[in-house]
Amino acid sequence: MLHLLSVNDLTNDFLYSLWRDASKNKGKSNNLLKGKVLTNLFYEPSTRTSSSFYSAMSRSGGSVIPINNVQFSSVAKGESFEDTITTMSQMSDAIVVRHSENGAAERAAAVSSVPIINAGDGNSEHPTQTIIDGFTIYNFLNKDLSNLRVTLVGDLKNGRTVKSLVKLLSRFDNNHFNLVSPEHLKLSTSLPKSSYETTDINEVLKDTDLLYVTRVQKERGSVHDYSLSLNQLNELPKKSIVMHPFPRVNEIPVEFDKDKRAKYFEQIRFSVWCRQMLLQKVIK
Ligand code: NCD
Repeated sequence: MLHLLSVNDLTNDFLYSLWRDASKNKGKSNNLLKGKVLTNLFYEPSTRTSSSFYSAMSRSGGSVIPINNVQFSSVAKGESFEDTITTMSQMSDAIVVRHSENGAAERAAAVSSVPIINAGDGNSEHPTQTIIDGFTIYNFLNKDLSNLRVTLVGDLKNGRTVKSLVKLLSRFDNNHFNLVSPEHLKLSTSLPKSSYETTDINEVLKDTDLLYVTRVQKERGSVHDYSLSLNQLNELPKKSIVMHPFPRVNEIPVEFDKDKRAKYFEQIRFSVWCRQMLLQKVIK
């Protein structure tokens, strides 16, 4: 794989090999990327994604050029996105790109001489978050990511992590999706084979192995306010898990954080484990 633009670029063999390696390595430091340089190019805010790439690269012995504030880069002088990518590909071994436009990572790949890793493009995809989400499921539900009752709730229209996750889980056998959102924030891509759309989460809480919660993407024009109560979350089966790509606004009460079903901080821990393995596979 040269570039990682979409979940479609991730074969199951690649994912399983990455997850097995991440399970073995568990985030430990090594020097496999000593002397290598990663550019983090973020045109949208980020805490977890940019920091976990930074952590993953550092723990692999490499270094990072962090461009998290494009308003202080030559972008502010009117430089084109393509010229910025071409420039950074002359001085680094891979570029992580987050951008508000759908297809930005593809545009970057068209001019880059080094691997482009899509860290979120508009409301389209976020494949590295899906590597982490898949690994969380692999760890806490089942290793073949199949036979799951998956309830996705929140801004399904503009949440890119949802779209990438649905793409991945649709590959495996017998997964069913409960899609919970208000009418105006329904999933905008084609529905998975086995799916049920509703505006009422209470209908499906008991029919859930994985509850995947997302925030409302107000920067993409989505308007809605919702939060799950502790009582609702306690309706979930004992063996289910609750995930959230974060940031959370008020979707999940902090009191739920100590519940053993809450796996969203594990996702963050796993993000470094997985991105470390990804960088080691992608950077030559
Ligand atoms: C997500 C994103 O940027 O798409 N965050 C993340 O990378 N973990 C989710 C979000 O912003 O709501």
